[in-house]
Amino acid sequence: MCGIVGYIGNNAVEEILLSGLKNLEYRGYDSAGIALNDNQGIDVFRAKGKLNNLAEVLNFKHLETKHISQGIGHIRWATHGKATIENAHPHLSNDGKLVLVHNGIIENYKELKDELISQGFHFFSQTDTEAIVHLIDREYKKTFSLEQAVIKAIAMLKGAFALCIMHHNEPDKIIAVRKNAPLIIGLGKNENFIASDIPALVGKTQKIIHLDDNELAIVKKDKVIVKNFKGEVLNKAEENIQIAQDDITKQGYKHFMLKEICEQPQIIHKMLAEHIEMPEQPIHFDNINMTDLMEGVEKIEIVACGTSLNAAQIAQYMMEDLTGISVTIEPASEYIYKRHLTNNKTLSIGISQSGETADTITALKQAKANGAKILVITNRPDSSIVRYAHYVLPLNAGIEVSVAATKSYTAQLTMLCLLSLAMAENKQNMERQKILSIKQELLTLPIKMEEVLSSQREIKKCAEKYNKYKNFIYLARGINIATAQEGALKLKEISYINANSYVAGELKHGPIALLDSNMPILAIFSQNSKTYEKMLSNCEEAKARQAHLIALTNSSIENRKGFFDDMIIVPELSELLSPLLFALPIQLFAYYFADSLNLDVDQPRNLAKSVTVE
Ligand code: AGP
Repeated sequence: MCGIVGYIGNNAVEEILLSGLKNLEYRGYDSAGIALNDNQGIDVFRAKGKLNNLAEVLNFKHLETKHISQGIGHIRWATHGKATIENAHPHLSNDGKLVLVHNGIIENYKELKDELISQGFHFFSQTDTEAIVHLIDREYKKTFSLEQAVIKAIAMLKGAFALCIMHHNEPDKIIAVRKNAPLIIGLGKNENFIASDIPALVGKTQKIIHLDDNELAIVKKDKVIVKNFKGEVLNKAEENIQIAQDDITKQGYKHFMLKEICEQPQIIHKMLAEHIEMPEQPIHFDNINMTDLMEGVEKIEIVACGTSLNAAQIAQYMMEDLTGISVTIEPASEYIYKRHLTNNKTLSIGISQSGETADTITALKQAKANGAKILVITNRPDSSIVRYAHYVLPLNAGIEVSVAATKSYTAQLTMLCLLSLAMAENKQNMERQKILSIKQELLTLPIKMEEVLSSQREIKKCAEKYNKYKNFIYLARGINIATAQEGALKLKEISYINANSYVAGELKHGPIALLDSNMPILAIFSQNSKTYEKMLSNCEEAKARQAHLIALTNSSIENRKGFFDDMIIVPELSELLSPLLFALPIQLFAYYFADSLNLDVDQPRNLAKSVTVE
């Protein structure tokens, strides 16, 4: 997902833009650039790779910043066109007077580009974005008003676009446009800011205006006017942001990922304290009445992507086990194109850490159009997805900077467990004692997570022992199949090795052909599971094919004469809750594996923190 920043005011523009882009690095990118508008003209600086390459270009230019009062910046995650200088933003009009940056995708850019080329415009990149700048420039040459030109041009765009636009002839303003891609305005004293996301504004302002879809802002240093795409002025509420600098610094950890793994016990403790006041009392959600939520619901469907989809799969087990209601789960990217039986008796749940994942938003829009009740579970209650929800459960896990989801995953699992218990309490279909004992065990989770973290040196040693392997298999049964999927996803996304998960019972139906001494297996199982013996026999099948075996389990089973090559033991927990604790060792294993290979753990290649394009 690209990152956008803009600034208009009397302070050092380039430093403000660079520091804003730095705080957006976690979104993932492969090139960067800024444009500065001074009394001579517009200067554009772009570089491939990381922001320090751009900083070098800027230093080399020995910028005289005294006349610069406005600038825009961008970090690009390549969609249309490779990660090259030509494709990096900002993009300039042919006369060099109009410049813009863009986050999103223009679906009709090809026909626009053909039309503009036929009208004499020259293109220098493969991006869809360049079609926007020439389109606005064409309209500007008719209206000589940047605002009018923008309004006319965006009416011709199809797709998603967050834009920051400057014109040399109108140095008193930057125009910000939002449609299906996030954009906020930061309000300062005789200066104003524009950003894709709140972290870019930390340390600059606490006051913001959220632009909604189909809105644009004329941002001057002493005022901000928000309009709809028809040009009508809107009254927008100012909000205060709650993110501190600490939330987006490593605080002494080597990587954000390790910091966020270690934050999990206190995040889960806070969440449990908020929703379980007394175990004997019903679970409490501030803004959700469970009777309203569940009234008339005969079916639950959950849509999500990536790690959030793995959380959905675990929720399916919990909800069906505790409520007896049928639960289906679907990757959001598949849900969009399938016929569904969704209706007004369906509760559709969307799970999204960022709240900006395009596939999940589109799927929820469809479910809503089919009459479903929409519940969203997100770590960003200020995000786009919330606009389509009837009910929202915020995770409050704090900004998750590392691309690999960790604390948001266990926060999702805990919230989904609380929701499943609350549904069971509402349905009254389960003996109260069983629900009470699950709640009491859930309350022991934070301290057990602390225990796992205190033994992470063992996990580090184990990960380093296996970091020469290029393939890895994760095996599990039942509710922990999704734990195996999440473990494989974590390992592949930050270490780039071919890690896959299989249902253990399926091993002998094909995957066993992969096994030899070059294939390590991480087997995940609960001692108190009804499939415990089955898991052991699957491990024996693997051992007989010379596979190296690591056991991740939750009790001190003696390692019968060294049957397992390595063991990672976590504190005892019932099978239903075991995924909430197994999550930590699979995160730590992937982290130390990748770190031992000196890889860019927080910003892995090709990945973005949130995929805002379908
Ligand atoms: C997980 O580590 C990845 N970052 C990715 O799979 C992520 O979970 C997925 O893109 C969904 O993101 P969301 O939760 O913000 O919707």
